Amino acid sequence: MLICRDLASLRAATASLRAAGKRLALVPTMGALHDGHLALVAAGRQAADAVATSIFVNPLQFNANEDLSRYPRDEEGDLGKLQAAGCDLVWMPPVEAMYPPGSATVIEVAGPTAGWEGDARPGHFRGVATVCCKLFLQSQAEVAAFGEKDWQQLQVVTRMATDLDIPIRILPVPTVREPDGLAMSSRNRFLSVEDRATAPVLYRTMTRAASEIAAGRAVGPALADSIEALRDTGFAPDYLALVEAETLKPLTARRPGGPMRIIAAARLGTVRLLDNIPV
Ligand code: PAJ
Repeated sequence: MLICRDLASLRAATASLRAAGKRLALVPTMGALHDGHLALVAAGRQAADAVATSIFVNPLQFNANEDLSRYPRDEEGDLGKLQAAGCDLVWMPPVEAMYPPGSATVIEVAGPTAGWEGDARPGHFRGVATVCCKLFLQSQAEVAAFGEKDWQQLQVVTRMATDLDIPIRILPVPTVREPDGLAMSSRNRFLSVEDRATAPVLYRTMTRAASEIAAGRAVGPALADSIEALRDTGFAPDYLALVEAETLKPLTARRPGGPMRIIAAARLGTVRLLDNIPV
């Protein structure tokens, strides 16, 4: 497994892969890797001939109220997991290599950035879109794997790649869950023992709402009951909504014509949990 820490060595490595006729899949991450990330690596291996994983804690996507320094880091553990998962290349640039002094360009996506995480985390998607655009151009990968776990992010990145004609295929990968249903996340480690026991209620509540709506219950009351159920269990819900899957536009009634998603964000103690499921 090759480890590249500067752009020249990344370019040399990807050029030799291309010269050997190998198609490259990219898996963008911020490290602190768990089985959800490793599912993306496995999907990348299926979709291409070689897999590059990037590990970069992107300062541009954290706003002033979010603690960048608290973000978990475990370089040694991550490299061991990637090696075992059959990753071919790891791209881990220092911040100065990603954003050299004088950097002045950002990517602003409208459309699917509106609402939800876009409201909760101002500037977040600008940072995500900018770094993903750079990662796509740096790696010149043919495929990039993203988790459905971060549904809005997946739609934003897909929109950006389409709008900017970046020759990369965005590969969505289903959410990997703990046996009790909790979506895997690097934030789960910050849950207290008690909150960890409560956390799967989020997924269970969403699943119930989804089956009620699918069975024809009115959307408004189904969502309102779910939000109340979360509050009763000790969550502080930011939102739980039914949306059009691609545009993230809220729906007040079922949309028989196209895919829908229930998306939710809820705080439990100091941890903000994010999840979504199809309806
Ligand atoms: P990070 O939170 O490290 O997530 C990296 C990728 O792993 C994302 O595509 C995310 O959706 C996916 N992922 C996380 N948990 C998952 C799970 N339980 N099941 C399936 N996939 C999961 O998301 C980011 O980093 C950053 O915003 C990034 C895209 C790297 C840009 O900086």
